Amino acid sequence: MAKARPSFICQNCGTVHSRWVGKCEGCGQWNTVIEEDPTAGIGGGPGKVPKKGRAVALTTLDGEAEDAPRVATGISELDRATGGGFVRGSAVLIGGDPGIGKSTVLMQAAAALARQGHRIIYVSGEEAVAQVRLRAQRLGAADSSVLLAAETNVEDILATLSDGKRPDLVIIDSIQTLWSDLVESAPGTVTQVRTGVQAMIRFAKQTGATVVLVGHVTKEGQIAGPRVVEHMVDAVLYFEGDRGHHYRILRTVKNRFGPTDEIGVFEMSDRGLREVTNPSELFLGERNAKAPGAAVFAGMEGTRPVLVEVQALVAPTSLGTPRRAVVGWDSARLSMILAVLEAHCGVRLGSHDVYLNVAGGYRIAEPAADLAVASALVSSLAGLALPPDCVYFGEVSLSGAIRPVAHTSHRLKEAEKLGFAQAVLPASSADLPKGSAQRWSEMESLPDLVARIAG
Ligand code: TYD
Ligand code: MG
Repeated sequence: MAKARPSFICQNCGTVHSRWVGKCEGCGQWNTVIEEDPTAGIGGGPGKVPKKGRAVALTTLDGEAEDAPRVATGISELDRATGGGFVRGSAVLIGGDPGIGKSTVLMQAAAALARQGHRIIYVSGEEAVAQVRLRAQRLGAADSSVLLAAETNVEDILATLSDGKRPDLVIIDSIQTLWSDLVESAPGTVTQVRTGVQAMIRFAKQTGATVVLVGHVTKEGQIAGPRVVEHMVDAVLYFEGDRGHHYRILRTVKNRFGPTDEIGVFEMSDRGLREVTNPSELFLGERNAKAPGAAVFAGMEGTRPVLVEVQALVAPTSLGTPRRAVVGWDSARLSMILAVLEAHCGVRLGSHDVYLNVAGGYRIAEPAADLAVASALVSSLAGLALPPDCVYFGEVSLSGAIRPVAHTSHRLKEAEKLGFAQAVLPASSADLPKGSAQRWSEMESLPDLVARIAG
């Protein structure tokens, strides 16, 4: 039999190359491609004879369907992100930068579930048992019945889990430390990580236990990132946050059993992660409402409204090419808004530096923020503060028209709850709340808004 050719696999995105390249053609990362044996551990290698297939019974779509059985942790922000709790027999991936708080939130979840009487096993491949215990003590979780193991070998982990313990939830911290005897590559490579994750998913499906897998987002290419297993698991959550800020966001990017775009918000304290049930208050906490260049955006995260301040600084440039810098928003979208302001509103920004920042280290993904961004920019340029009790939302098109966005009533109600008496929103917005005392200014086009701000 011909010897299988070695493959060169990108450790970041999993793209297979026929030869070594410095830059991955799949994701564009440098130095992430390393040589691996692609067949090892998956399907048993080239020498194995495939077994004869067996026909399976086919069925129709109109049979009985059940809701997925879930286990809620009682930590509401985590349950919200997972869509109501962990689904039995499913595999969940929690990714994030090292040190962001993945182990912390999972230890808190493990303790909460153990207190409800569930059997939980926490397998740590990164830290020794004593270290995990220390964290558990700090979190006030040491008295729960969570069982611990410090192990990295996949076969040993499976043997341990199958040894009559029948766990309801297994936490593997982390997938990058897993290694299997069946694979020759080093731990942390794509093949090892995929083999280990596959084995854990099979365990989940066979026993009905939930398996939670921790994956570090890696900057260097020598260790496989969580992206290479995203397609294999049932749900993918990313833990985000900024080192300079205390709050953390658990964002759902994939969920076979529930909604995506949902977020859970936490605050890191000296005794673990605390739930933040009203994120708007947190993001608006240190607001200086009287300064020009600040506009409050009424945004949505999944089903929840989130108010956040957009800050702009527009200043005459001393450089040949003016600077454009954005934190927390899409820079291409900023260029678009600047172009619309120039082309349709007579706002000349060609000799100005433009800086845009979303307060609190928060990241906005919605085009609905266009109107808030434009308002902040014009306010900064004109040196005029916007009304402090006003929120902004709406999408701006290239023609300068302001387009309606979804969830108008959610956004307005949240704003009213937090004391915002006015709102600037797209004309012909549907679903306006009835009987509200808020004052709404419905805008047709960006030039109207600019005229209103610059007076
Ligand atoms: P950790 O959960 O170990 O991160 P990860 O598993 O994602 O790598 O969290 C590490 C950081 O959190 C560390 O910098 C210390 C901090 N931390 C607190 O501030 N308070 C706490 O109660 C705990 C347990 C950790
Ligand atoms: Mg950890």
